[in-house]
Amino acid sequence: MPDWKIRRANTIQTELEVPGDKSISHRAVMLASMSNGTCVIRGFLPSEDCLCTVAAIRALGVPIESADETTLIVQGKRRVFAAPTHDIDCGNSGTTMRLMSGLLAGQPFRSRLIGDPSLSKRPMRRVMEPLTQMGAKITAEGKDGRPPLVIEGGNLQPIDYVSPVASAQVKSAVLLAGMFAKGRTSVTEPTQSRNHTERMLEYFLIRPQKNDLTVSLHGGLTPESRDFQVPGDISSAAFWLVAAAAQPRSHLLIKNVGLNETRTGVLAVLVRMGAHVREIVENEEAEPLGVIEVRGARLKGTEIGGKEIPNVIDELPILAVAAALANGTTVIKDAGELRVKETDRLAAVATNLRAMGAQVQETEDGMVITGGIPLHGARLDSYGDHRIAMAFAIAGMFAEGETIITNTDCVNTSYPGFYQTLERILHEPPGQQTPVITSLPNA
Ligand code: S3P
Repeated sequence: MPDWKIRRANTIQTELEVPGDKSISHRAVMLASMSNGTCVIRGFLPSEDCLCTVAAIRALGVPIESADETTLIVQGKRRVFAAPTHDIDCGNSGTTMRLMSGLLAGQPFRSRLIGDPSLSKRPMRRVMEPLTQMGAKITAEGKDGRPPLVIEGGNLQPIDYVSPVASAQVKSAVLLAGMFAKGRTSVTEPTQSRNHTERMLEYFLIRPQKNDLTVSLHGGLTPESRDFQVPGDISSAAFWLVAAAAQPRSHLLIKNVGLNETRTGVLAVLVRMGAHVREIVENEEAEPLGVIEVRGARLKGTEIGGKEIPNVIDELPILAVAAALANGTTVIKDAGELRVKETDRLAAVATNLRAMGAQVQETEDGMVITGGIPLHGARLDSYGDHRIAMAFAIAGMFAEGETIITNTDCVNTSYPGFYQTLERILHEPPGQQTPVITSLPNA
């Protein structure tokens, strides 16, 4: 993909939809593959990460057809998988590697999981530890528990695992392995992370039990096949939410977007920063989904930390951009996990914001941003990280002069079509943006 060239934009007055939720798309394919029949998944995100999960599940002998780009028909195999005949390539996707590790830990065969150079640097001990306690044999071929992973599974014992990290990927890996263990498996996390796996297990009638920060389930049950609707990804919506929130007189509606309470932290942060945000849940069958309305304002700084972090973990790069555009100081803390994402996101955000003229102090687990200093265009690297590319494309909409983002292919990891939407927004003068939007009714 060529470099992105971005210029300062006018106010945004438009409505749009975003592609399917990445976390939910991965899980829908995995649970459908374990089910007892045919599941039609609609709204699936056809991004590189999620297609890695589709290829991984197909490699285990599960037929998956695509009726169209966003509709998959999965023939569940009643939890009985075939040994893969080749390495399973997880690409850039941490979710594929960690969740598949849980599923494969329960299989009586050997599999090998590989990833791209970025994924090959990411820590896997966090899933190896509990899965090994359950009885799987897992070897990391990379240094210090880094991929590739070789998994020889089967014959699992249940555990009560207390996770040291608030990670939905760790929780999900243990729960997926627990589906194959003899007895009740539980996971306790230090802070609530996204709960899509628990919700989906419930939807597929596995009935996990939830008690505060502990989730548990009985092994040996087969998910009941059902169709599934994936909502739009609020983490993708976050880029447009900030683009509108930070520009007085902007007005944006995002429709059919996921509003799961473990993911909507970005809305709370934007409200604290002074944006006018409203949301309406329209459907709650499998996952809550609905509409978000944002009206822009002159934003002010805030503090983001503690229990809120897992709920905004993927939105922190774009929230850091919002902070640079806001008056006053923003402190982001307790976010050390950002150092082990697709790239070190704290370093990448600080480097790029500084290149645009912002004042940023990087800390071990966060950053302090002194906002309100006008940004200027710069030539910025994405560091091969989709969320860095998109966050700085939005920063470019507020900068004087031209911003160039290089190394942009990574956007296909989570948001194919992002740049087309950006171009539409950049080139449509306000007032002529289509369709002309209406407001949400008063609450
Ligand atoms: C994800 C969980 C989060 C998130 C990632 C997707 C998931 O990671 O950052 O983009 O789908 O479970 P952790 O669980 O490692 O925090």
